Amino acid sequence: MQQPIAILDSGVGGLTVAKEVLRQLPREKVIYFGDTARAPYGSRPAEEVMRFTREIVDYLAQYHPKMIVIACNTATAVALEDIRSRVNVPVVGVIRPGARAAIGRTQTGVIGVIGTEGTIRSCAYELVLKELSPHIKVISEACPAFVPLVEQGNFRSKKTLETVHRELDHLRDCQIDTLILGCTHYPFLSETISEVMGQQVTLISSADETAREISTILHDKNKLARYEELPVHQFLCSGEAGIFKHIAEQWLGEQIEQSPVVWQIP
Ligand code: SIN
Repeated sequence: MQQPIAILDSGVGGLTVAKEVLRQLPREKVIYFGDTARAPYGSRPAEEVMRFTREIVDYLAQYHPKMIVIACNTATAVALEDIRSRVNVPVVGVIRPGARAAIGRTQTGVIGVIGTEGTIRSCAYELVLKELSPHIKVISEACPAFVPLVEQGNFRSKKTLETVHRELDHLRDCQIDTLILGCTHYPFLSETISEVMGQQVTLISSADETAREISTILHDKNKLARYEELPVHQFLCSGEAGIFKHIAEQWLGEQIEQSPVVWQIP
């Protein structure tokens, strides 16, 4: 039996990571879990996000994943170390890979981070960025209005443009040359965010860097899939399967072969 990579998120945002994993590692079987009934996580208390993440990891254990990817910045910020201590497979988060990519791109040394209230409150990006490069200047901003737009599939509209202007206009005078999209939902809005911030600002999504990290870890552990046949991926969610399937197919650009399994929240 091919052991899958389990990717979990509060909703559809982690599909940005799943898409990169499918692109970089086409032989790997992926089990994607979106906690769509309880999204967004960003404004929930840390203990609650920790509990939800534990519940999902426990539920996904029946699929015997060879690796767990927490493709949600809010959950990575509060639950990564806890989950690592509870399972005996590698657990990858999205914050360190995103921070590393931003350090590699900035010229001015001024990096912006946008994320949910939970992620920004945790200072997780700031801590990792300063650890990697102590002289970097970090400007962080919570953008709680973005996740609901994405969960509704509202990626590019007048309302989206107005919302992004309202949340980001004041960041345009801060000399930022690199902006970390510190929430896995935000790459869905990247065209609008780029339009508002201007072309001189490089947007960093953790997705590609996270997929590279997954690849490196699996390679080092001699766990990369070597099957001839391409795998059938599996999708699970806790909310309405139809909306989830629609967004997933739109974002991944391919049909989901098996209908998403709906998880009954305990
Ligand atoms: C959320 O559920 O609020 C956003 C997910 C994330 O932080 O990446």
